[in-house]
Amino acid sequence: MARLKQLRVGVIGTGIGAYHLQGYQSHPQAEVVALCDVNPKALEAAGAQYGVSRLFTDYQEMLAMKNLDAVSVCVPNFLHAPIATAALQAGKHVLVEKPLATDAKTGQKMVDAAKKTKKTFMIQFNNRYRPEAKVLKEAVDSGELGNLYFARCGWIRRNGIPGWGGWFTDKDLSGGGPLIDLAVHMFDLTWWLMGKPRPVTCLGSTYSAFGPKMEALGPWGVPNTQGKFNVEDMAVGMVKFEGGATIMLEASWASRIEREWVYATLCGDKAGATLERQWAVDGIDDTSIDKLRIFKQEHGAPVDVDLKVQPDPAMGRLEAVRHFVDCVLHGKQPISPATDGLEIMKVLDALYKSAQTGKAVNIG
Ligand SMILES: NC(=O)c1ccc[n+]([C@@H]2O[C@H](COP(=O)([O-])OP(=O)(O)OC[C@H]3O[C@@H](n4cnc5c(N)ncnc54)[C@H](O)[C@@H]3O)[C@@H](O)[C@H]2O)c1
Repeated sequence: MARLKQLRVGVIGTGIGAYHLQGYQSHPQAEVVALCDVNPKALEAAGAQYGVSRLFTDYQEMLAMKNLDAVSVCVPNFLHAPIATAALQAGKHVLVEKPLATDAKTGQKMVDAAKKTKKTFMIQFNNRYRPEAKVLKEAVDSGELGNLYFARCGWIRRNGIPGWGGWFTDKDLSGGGPLIDLAVHMFDLTWWLMGKPRPVTCLGSTYSAFGPKMEALGPWGVPNTQGKFNVEDMAVGMVKFEGGATIMLEASWASRIEREWVYATLCGDKAGATLERQWAVDGIDDTSIDKLRIFKQEHGAPVDVDLKVQPDPAMGRLEAVRHFVDCVLHGKQPISPATDGLEIMKVLDALYKSAQTGKAVNIG
């Protein structure tokens, strides 16, 4: 089959979908030809801002377009499965936002559907596309850190509950709280840096100290005071892998900590490394902190190597979208295939189960 020279794409969902729009519009071989959102005001605003004239409130109508090659699925988590599956079945390549689905069983059906269509199916694990992550991955793959036997990672917020009462805080619509919303990113990044070892077993705990009291609300999402909060606002876990390596993780939307902190720390038998971002605290401290450091021992003394990699304010989101375009146009395998999203979903499911039962859970 002849390869496409120009990719004609549609974006479904115009919230975080804005990053997808910017990513496509910054690629010389991509053109955004259609936009879809059930909210007509948001749809029209995005259409005007990004100069897209084919606007749809029904994704099925958009998918019926013949001159549409690929779509980004940027809708609430519970809609990833029906919309991504319909798009694949309509013959479109798909870039789906994280998490893959609300649970692994649903995610498995999506991956099975994709296999039948032979279309590119990628997940937006944008942290893998951050410049610091790329440099760290090169260091790991070169053997500089040696065998990675332990890592800790997290994304912890102080006052960061998104859209209280909207889809984010309703378990049926989101699949869960910060474990599926935030830890999904940093656990994925850490697992990928470690070379994607096979998860074997895990132990997890979840807590809801602030959400039920409608405290620690953040600026994201659309709140609804008539809605519900039936997810965790904090989660911690430990995942063990074949070969013996372990990752410890933590995630919170709400916790009494100094400031929002996103990190991955790797321990190897030659060197260690840490990648971190601490956000400015509005009105209190306006500096964000970005670090990428490698910790070594040379001539019997500790040596810290501070790598001054320019951080990407979009945290790899545009770069990931451009990579998706290249994968489709050149028939390349994505750095973040949707199948990796499924592996991560299996771990998240097991962590939720462990939190519920109080027991370690095998990951199969
Ligand atoms: N990669 C990242 O950094 C990142 C950041 C934020 C959110 N996300 C993910 O992106 C997805 C969307 O999150 P968000 O923050 O943009 O949520 P949001 O609620 O702000 O926006 C979702 C948009 O989808 C629209 N929508 C809802 N149902 C629709 C339908 N049936 N058809 C078309 N449009 C529909 C809504 O009207 C809304 O405009 C979620 O899966 C979330 O986990 C990823």
